[in-house]
Amino acid sequence: MRLIVTGAAGFIGMHVALALLERGHAVTGVDTLDPYYDPRLKSDRLARLERREGFRFERLDVADTAAFGSLVRNEAPQRVVHLAAQPGVRYSIDQPMAYVHSNLVGFASVLEACRHAGVPHLVYASSSSVYGDSPQVPFSEHDPVDHPLSLYAASKRANELMAHVYAHLYRLPVTGLRFFTVYGPWGRPDMAPIRFARAISEGETIRLFNYGDHQRDFTYVDDIVAGVLAVALGEPPSAGEPGGDRDPASSDAPFRVYNIGNSRPVELMEFLRVLETCLGREGRYEKVAAQPGDVHSTWADCSDLERDYGYRPDTPLERGVADFVAWFREYYGG
Ligand SMILES: NC(=O)c1ccc[n+]([C@@H]2O[C@H](COP(=O)([O-])OP(=O)(O)OC[C@H]3O[C@@H](n4cnc5c(N)ncnc54)[C@H](O)[C@@H]3O)[C@@H](O)[C@H]2O)c1
Repeated sequence: MRLIVTGAAGFIGMHVALALLERGHAVTGVDTLDPYYDPRLKSDRLARLERREGFRFERLDVADTAAFGSLVRNEAPQRVVHLAAQPGVRYSIDQPMAYVHSNLVGFASVLEACRHAGVPHLVYASSSSVYGDSPQVPFSEHDPVDHPLSLYAASKRANELMAHVYAHLYRLPVTGLRFFTVYGPWGRPDMAPIRFARAISEGETIRLFNYGDHQRDFTYVDDIVAGVLAVALGEPPSAGEPGGDRDPASSDAPFRVYNIGNSRPVELMEFLRVLETCLGREGRYEKVAAQPGDVHSTWADCSDLERDYGYRPDTPLERGVADFVAWFREYYGG
């Protein structure tokens, strides 16, 4: 297949693009290499992709509707995997307009491009943050998600609603994947695993928000990649009976939303203990109050994705963290 992967210099985008290339598919990667975090990490990821046959890179902003539209028209890809976004919950409190630009304008631009080019399937990244602080666990796609706690979460929920409009009006097959705290080699430096690994290695005190009382459904990146590929390379969603389906996760349009997590939430302290073991060093902690926008726990029910695409994450935490630490040491030294 020929695919466009946006956010290809990002953490998940690089892993997805690599896996596609390894399977012999042709990938055009799109990214702005924005400076939200160290752009050197992005160019190092990109360098790994550029060594592979079948890869081509376009540095452009998906919110540039004309440029992205003409790329999709010229490439005529069989799939667009849209992972480019402004991520991060806390940053959305300081820099809300970055989310409006990349996640709202950018997403509309991706929908327009796919619609006009007649792309057979758009797969895009949503987020577990759409569940807000829902007390109903595990989180199910069939539950309503109308109470986001950050502009980041609201932008991802808006993407799902916008996607439905294009599936309904233009019959664009479109699937949203709600990722749950992805970790692994080449991860994002603004996320807990790298921040914690760095602090433990350097003997710095780690501030544990909400007094360390957090649970996360940490998902190893290889499991995520397997799920993304199963959806992207598999059958696009088909339309149901007109007027029939009013479930939040599906529709009478060719539209689906799936959780893609590990379905085994881990206490933050447990994650830290495994990280300490792999680093061979104990951490120092200070317990402080919760921060605005934080959610207490995340827990994915992935039974729909398992039923429809055979998704079955199987990386134990100990192995995933060991692989992450091996990369962390090699890349950052120490
Ligand atoms: N990593 C996680 O745990 C997680 C959890 C939930 C959702 N997600 C979502 O998954 C997707 C990938 O996340 P990631 O962790 O790989 O993030 P990342 O920041 O590493 O990757 C995103 C990439 O998109 C690029 N980008 C940003 N705005 C752009 C724009 N307007 N045009 C073109 N490129 C742009 C960035 O330069 C970056 O390389 C994002 O949509 C994110 O919101 C990630």
